[in-house]
Amino acid sequence: MKNNYLHDVLIIGSGAAGLSLALRLPSDIRIAVIAKRNLIEGNTLYAQGGISAVLDKHDSIASHVADTLTAGAGLCDKETVQLVVENGPENIRWLLKEGVQFTQEEDSTSSSGFHLTREGGHSHRRVIHAADATGYSVETTLEQQARSRENITLYEHHIVIDLITNKHENQTNRCTGAYILNLKTEHVETFNARIVVLATGGASKVYLYTSNPDVATGDGIAMAWRAGCRIANMEFIQFHPTCLYHPKAKTFLITEALRGEGAYLKRPDGSRFMPDYDERAELAPRDIVAHAIDHEMKRLGIECVYLDITHKSAEFIQEHFPTVYSSCLKFGIDITREPIPVVPAAHYTCGGVITDHRAQTDIEGLYAIGETAYTGLHGANRMASNSLLECLVFGQLAAEDIQRVLADTPAPPPAEKWDESRVTDSDEEVVVSHNWEELRHFMWDYVGIVRSNKRLERAKRRVNLLRHEIRWYYDNFRVTNDLLELRNLVDVADLIIRSAQRRKESRGLHYTIDFPQTDDVTQKKPTILIPDNYSPRISD
Ligand code: FAD
Ligand code: SIN
Repeated sequence: MKNNYLHDVLIIGSGAAGLSLALRLPSDIRIAVIAKRNLIEGNTLYAQGGISAVLDKHDSIASHVADTLTAGAGLCDKETVQLVVENGPENIRWLLKEGVQFTQEEDSTSSSGFHLTREGGHSHRRVIHAADATGYSVETTLEQQARSRENITLYEHHIVIDLITNKHENQTNRCTGAYILNLKTEHVETFNARIVVLATGGASKVYLYTSNPDVATGDGIAMAWRAGCRIANMEFIQFHPTCLYHPKAKTFLITEALRGEGAYLKRPDGSRFMPDYDERAELAPRDIVAHAIDHEMKRLGIECVYLDITHKSAEFIQEHFPTVYSSCLKFGIDITREPIPVVPAAHYTCGGVITDHRAQTDIEGLYAIGETAYTGLHGANRMASNSLLECLVFGQLAAEDIQRVLADTPAPPPAEKWDESRVTDSDEEVVVSHNWEELRHFMWDYVGIVRSNKRLERAKRRVNLLRHEIRWYYDNFRVTNDLLELRNLVDVADLIIRSAQRRKESRGLHYTIDFPQTDDVTQKKPTILIPDNYSPRISD
């Protein structure tokens, strides 16, 4: 059985970030793309609202930049924002060339040829979309292209355990591959590569309630941290204001584009509440809307609030929101006639692995792109539809840089084989499932939308205990998918709690009752966590 592989570029993750990078690299580069489940499963597939980009002649780069900076509550990196926004239109053109079908223009006032919708924080209509299933359209198109390329080998149902790094005296740390568990054969395989890219998505599964699919366990962030990369801004977890509240709906997002097209948030008595919180009402940035909903729910002791679009025609609703309409109907809710019960849920990881404008991390040969990376674009709160844009732009920038460095990067020596001599099969799987549940519960209760010193301390004590147990379990038993994901979730939870404890103020997505004000004098900077094995890069 083959268990040692060599590729030029090893891309871990097959969402918008990973696949766009793979497709932008030239066809003489041998690429491996790794996915934990089937190729299309990941956050990208479920994206609804769309992709923000300046496509209308009445809009401008300056306006998109200004809106992003405002949503980011003072913590965005201005140069990154400018870079991403400027590259937006070209990336939409690239998607069109790859074959993505966006919803065409209906409104003669727009000059783009496409229907552009609006979402919270945007002062213009600038969100291009494929009805309310933009992610499906993007992901399946990129999948089709990737499957047709001979230089790209796809490894589905393979979960990466850890990165392989080499550090010789007086040299920088270099990433040369990864150990990967083949979930079909249950064997650990060694992948060597000249360049490794983390495109592993976000970490919202660390919370009990989330809009994210099961794969979003923060693996890339945890692996990069263990390998020696700095991690930034993990306290800024975005809670999407409107996920469907229904006992049978595991996770289903109600796109912000509904509010963009005029839907109102209401209390059970039918009264609107957002105008009491912000002059932008339902179109305020997400942190403000989620916080207002949480406040109303606690104040009134109610289990959900309602999103009402019944004042629009049934024809309009069915045409613009076919996925939301049909999914809600399956749960017995006709959104053309009744309001939708909604609650906030963990949605997006604003922090991540620190990267530069070439998508390089602190470790030579290791790149990070997409939701797993921290580029400085989102600051303390991501503006709607800026994430897919970031995936695409950094996919492009990474592709340019990888082509530049590849010529001078020799193939690494084969890494040592994975050592299983000291482990046995687990006879206590219940420990993993129990700890998984416990972690997600206390993260929701203590590290959620409203935090406090006491709650964070409680969460920290529990996470320390879990880390200890999981470490022991990992050292003694053969690895499984669930154990690996739990190990990563515990590391990520620890990073979130420690970052939240560092921030002695409330800003954007981080709200604590002990420091309710924003402190621009001492706290207006990213939270950077540095691992014990960090060493600064020597080269370039
Ligand atoms: P993902 O698409 O999540 O892909 C991650 C990949 O990494 C998967 O292939 C997974 O299998 C792989 N992976 C992870 N860990 C491992 C491992 N250990 N080993 C092997 N493979 C691994 N953003 C917008 O801009 N606009 C929207 O309209 C929008 N709507 C959204 C709606 C929903 C319901 C959700 C959940 C998110 C939405 N977002 C939206 C956010 C956006 O979809 C994501 O941030 C973006 O798709 C992330 O893409 P990615 O390529 O970084 O990761
Ligand atoms: C949505 O459609 O509401 C999600 C958009 C996003 O997360 O950017």
